[in-house]
Amino acid sequence: MEAAMLQALRDPAGVPSHPVIFLVLGVLTWALHIAAVQVMLGASALTLFGAFKQDAHWRRLAAAMLNTAKVAVSVAIVLGVAPLLFVQVIYDPFWYTSNVLSARWVIAFIVLLIGGYLALYAFYYRNPDMRAASTRGAWHLVLSIVLMLVVGWIMHVLSVQMLLPEQWMQWYAPAGHIDPSGQQLHAYHPARFAFFILLSGAVTGLWLLGYRRYLMGREDGHPAEDPTYIAWLKPLALNLALAGGVLALAAGAVWMLSLPEKMAWFATSAWMGAALVALLAAVSFPRLLGARLDTGLWGYAPFALGAVALIVVAAAREALRFITLLAAHGYDALDYKLNLDWYSTVLFFVTFAVLGGVVLGYLLTVAWKAGQTKGVYVPSPGLTRLGQVGVLLLVVWIVQYFAVGFYVWAR
Ligand code: HEM
Repeated sequence: MEAAMLQALRDPAGVPSHPVIFLVLGVLTWALHIAAVQVMLGASALTLFGAFKQDAHWRRLAAAMLNTAKVAVSVAIVLGVAPLLFVQVIYDPFWYTSNVLSARWVIAFIVLLIGGYLALYAFYYRNPDMRAASTRGAWHLVLSIVLMLVVGWIMHVLSVQMLLPEQWMQWYAPAGHIDPSGQQLHAYHPARFAFFILLSGAVTGLWLLGYRRYLMGREDGHPAEDPTYIAWLKPLALNLALAGGVLALAAGAVWMLSLPEKMAWFATSAWMGAALVALLAAVSFPRLLGARLDTGLWGYAPFALGAVALIVVAAAREALRFITLLAAHGYDALDYKLNLDWYSTVLFFVTFAVLGGVVLGYLLTVAWKAGQTKGVYVPSPGLTRLGQVGVLLLVVWIVQYFAVGFYVWAR
């Protein structure tokens, strides 16, 4: 497809900040999205596995992972919206065309996601404490995992279709007959999808190490509740991290070997090399730490390194898209017309840093400390003040939002 045609599909209004901001934020937020997706899938799979076991440790882990999955699915959805906004701003000719070509699936995405979410909660409703009672209605959880995977598959197809503009006409009008139904999923790359999904094993293994360290920190001067559980978790987490890493790298190798011709450069690129090194480092790091995993903040370090590795993977994934569209189709996402809007740019960053920092800082600190306390947790006066400041800032934000809106409208 001609570069001029792709340019014509751009929003004539331009973008409100330099496109590089959208590009970088897209990479960072997608890395967070996929991290949450992987924890959600891994935690759901561990819950399902534990659901069929009688062993007390497995039951306890299943109960904890069910709670993790419930939170992770919400985080995955919220953090999915951010890259969605960024990708549609600087890659709109590609993203919207890909969406329209499979429009029914894009709409089904929401319905399937709601179904998966409800199925997870239905399972939780039937199994409020997996430690105390045997599993009921495991099929809810199976359904939830399947629907989540279908939802991910739809996103995968949209991401792949946008990279193949040379095939759009053939999909839109096969043999010259227009098919406006949007009911087909036209292009996919199973090895690419498998790479991102199998990486769940590695990410969840690293997450389990953090969970284990967190439980160890919950002593409050007393011995840990169940040292045998803590000891049991360690090999499970390490093996899961290793097995998930090996399987993901195998799928990644197949992906690299089966790249279409115009993307073949990626397999031997520095981007790909950096992603490989980052993943290998993240998977082997906990083993290198040895006994230090049980001390200080080291127990959390593997997951932190895993998050950094995912950012490198996300950057490589973006490089594949950016360079392919530039080299093969003459589309430079960074030369988007700039229509600088300082208000929205400043509002975005201030909201993110100040409101996000204070409100999330308060909520996460309360959740963390409550989990580490035996009995009833009472926040310190300083922390309570932080919560009050958070509420005040939210009120100020809402007032300024409507005030500016009315001012602009009335002008
Ligand atoms: C809950 C189940 C979900 C799963 C398993 C999932 C999984 C995935 C996977 C595997 C990819 C990478 C596809 C590829 O590059 O081949 C992806 C991309 C993406 N996901 Fe999700 N996702 C889920 C939910 C969501 C939701 C609810 C949203 C938005 C509201 C979302 C937004 C995105 C976006 C925008 C991308 C592509 C970003 C880009 O190309 O820059 N996802 N997702």
